[in-house]
Amino acid sequence: MNGPLIPGIPGGPIPAPTTRPPRSAEPCTLVILGASGDLAHRKLVPALYNLAVDGALPSPFGVVGFSRTPYTDDAFRAELLESVSEHSRRRPLDRAVWDRFAKSVSYCAGDFSKRESYEQLRRCLEASEKATGTGGNRILYLATPPSVFPVILENLAASKLLTKTSAPWTRVVVEKPFGHDLASAQSLNRVVHGACDERQVYRIDHYLGKETVQNILALRFANSIFEPLLSRHFVDHVQITVAEELGVEGRGAYYEEAGVLRDMVQNHMMQLLTLTAMEPPVAFEADAVRDEKVKVLRAVCPIEPDEVGRSTVRGQYREGTIGGKPVPGYREEEGVARDSMTSTFVALSLRVESWRWAGVPFYLRTGKRLGRRLTEIAIHFRAVPHPLFGRGQDERPNVLILRIQPDEGIAIRFAAKVPGEAMQLREVTFDFRYGASFGEQPPEAYERLLLDCMLGDATLFTREDEVEASWKLMDPILQGWRDHPHVAPYEAGGWGPDEADELLARDGRVWRKP
Ligand code: BG6
Repeated sequence: MNGPLIPGIPGGPIPAPTTRPPRSAEPCTLVILGASGDLAHRKLVPALYNLAVDGALPSPFGVVGFSRTPYTDDAFRAELLESVSEHSRRRPLDRAVWDRFAKSVSYCAGDFSKRESYEQLRRCLEASEKATGTGGNRILYLATPPSVFPVILENLAASKLLTKTSAPWTRVVVEKPFGHDLASAQSLNRVVHGACDERQVYRIDHYLGKETVQNILALRFANSIFEPLLSRHFVDHVQITVAEELGVEGRGAYYEEAGVLRDMVQNHMMQLLTLTAMEPPVAFEADAVRDEKVKVLRAVCPIEPDEVGRSTVRGQYREGTIGGKPVPGYREEEGVARDSMTSTFVALSLRVESWRWAGVPFYLRTGKRLGRRLTEIAIHFRAVPHPLFGRGQDERPNVLILRIQPDEGIAIRFAAKVPGEAMQLREVTFDFRYGASFGEQPPEAYERLLLDCMLGDATLFTREDEVEASWKLMDPILQGWRDHPHVAPYEAGGWGPDEADELLARDGRVWRKP
């Protein structure tokens, strides 16, 4: 169907807009279960405050905090004020906005495992709804350690705070990690579905809230020049890197249980992989997008337990130097066993056996305490079929780099002639930088995701089958790692163990220099 004609330009159709028009969210109350925790203080409440600054919160709106620590409403608000002052991307704090927002916040102390606490929560929630006038729409945000997700969901269902209703609506947000293997993810899905319908569930992966992660879709499906090249016909291989300078940051006990595969690969890296490899969805709408992502996960060849030696590399950081400062090794971190075999680095070689990607390896690497913070997807194209300009000159193939963070942007590496009489070539870069082109600070991932949940848009949340398909790929690797324990040490501040280089060298390739 043609769009309207541009006046004065014969036959020039203007394509229909590709983005959805801004929508406003219906009044609702957000219940934060785990309100005294780190996530609520560092991410959720600062994100709500930033939405308030933008005038993007529904009106009216309410927040009810629920956790074990006893607070009065005022003491809870005072603590939140400190956290927002420290963690909001907008400083200094706008006192008038905060005061208006704080009026909608109340607190209820309770024990997640006790039924009577949920009766207490109901009373607090009803009192808040009466005071704010939100009319009964509710978001229940599970911002607690994952071990209590099942008991919370069961109690919410038993006390009828979570039912299969749609008017007024109740939505439930579940933080990552969603399960620690396939069986536990399936069991958690059963608990969730015992309490509510899938369309009420919002499983968070904060990578999907990042502007530059969403920009992968814009680059691929709002431009006609890249997409035709992204297939086995032109792409040699893809490298996805998520490098962190940070260590385990006081979360040693959690990390010992999780390790890098559960902490980063099952969720964030699989999101980057699926968005890079998926087919165009029929619409930019929750199920259409998620259907295509699930197809990618189903097309990934599982790495079987006896293949882990060939297709995976594990590492664990030892002491070293980052940014000129000495940092301890993983085994010296608090909460970590002195003989721990937990991996803090992994490199994987994956195959996506689909019509588009058959034969194109996807190499993934992620680790803590690496040389610098960097998340990028580098699509390496095939070399030209016939070298015209002399050996070594045109053998460096083109690379399309999607930089997720920091220095968010897109770059293309290509060969150009060096000025002068000789036909000498050198690699140069086309560089698009988000900050320079749009000049504004992008919203934080949690701002986008909280707002989408209020709007009832689940496009950027993980569906039941997606989370299970991803665990199906992790389980055999975890099994193989248990059967063949081997974790190579690497120095903090480096780029992981040498074996990670060998993984690519075997295929005649090298990691991009960060
Ligand atoms: C979290 C992991 O999900 O993602 C952390 O649990 C990790 O270990 C963090 O540091 C990375 O997120 P970001 O947004 O800093 O890349």
